[in-house]
Amino acid sequence: MRRSLVVGNWKMNGSKSSAISLLTGLKASLADVSGVEVCVCPPYIYLSEASDSFADTKLAFGAQDVSGNAEAGGAYTGEVSAAMLSDAGCQYAIVGHSERREYFGESADLLAKKVEFLLSEKITPILCVGEKLEDRESGLHERVVNGQLMDIVDRLGVDVFSQIVVAYEPVWAIGTGLTATPQQMHAFIRKAISALDLAIADEIRLLYGGSVKPDNAKDLFAMQDIDGALVGGACLDVESFSLIVKAQETV
Ligand code: PGA
Repeated sequence: MRRSLVVGNWKMNGSKSSAISLLTGLKASLADVSGVEVCVCPPYIYLSEASDSFADTKLAFGAQDVSGNAEAGGAYTGEVSAAMLSDAGCQYAIVGHSERREYFGESADLLAKKVEFLLSEKITPILCVGEKLEDRESGLHERVVNGQLMDIVDRLGVDVFSQIVVAYEPVWAIGTGLTATPQQMHAFIRKAISALDLAIADEIRLLYGGSVKPDNAKDLFAMQDIDGALVGGACLDVESFSLIVKAQETV
C-alpha cells in the first residue's frame, strides 16, 4: 500500500516572518490530518530554523535542491550538501525540477550524483520528470519522460527507484493554470519501471505537479496511479495547501 504524499515547493518565495506564519498556520490546520504525509520545502536559508521550530508538528521538511558536487563538504561556493540537509532536519529533497534543468542546465550525470548523495544521507529524493510543450505537441512526451527516468537507471540501477519518489510535472502546466489529465502519463511511468522491476513499480510513489489547486486536487488524486502532489503556487497559502492535503486524505 503506497502512502500518499503532498509536497509544497515554496521556490524562491517568502521571508523569515512569512515562513513562520505559513508554518504556524499549517501546524494548526493540519493537526488532525492522518493517512497522508505532508512535506514542505522552504528555501535553504529558512530550512534549519523551520525544522527545529516546527519539529513537534506532522510536517516533514524537504529541500528544493542539493549539491551534486560532494556529499559532505568542499570548495563549492554557494552549494549546500546532502550532509548539511540531513543536519538541518530534511527528510526529502527535490531533484531535477524543470526550473533547475532549464535555468541551471543540470545534466543527467549531475542529477544522478544528487540522488546518490541524498540516498547516502538517508534523504528521499523527489525526482522530477516532465516534458516541455514542444515535446508534447510533437508527440515526444513519452520518449522524453522515459529518457529522464532511464538517465537515472543507467547510472544508478533500477534499485534506487525503491528509495525515491517520482514527480511527473509537465513543464507547460507549471504555474500556468493549465493542468494535464495525467493518469495516462503516470500509468506510463509505472509501466516503464515495471518493465525493469515489477515490485518496485508497484511500490513507488508517483506525484503529479503543475497548477495543482484545491479545485482540481480531488480529481487528480482519484486517478489510479497518482499518489500525491508536488505543489508550487498554491502551497504558499495556508488554506489552499491545507485543502489540497485534505483532498488527498479523503480520496
Ligand atoms: P505550480 O508549480 O503548482 O505553481 O504549477 C509546481 C512546481 O513547480 O513544482
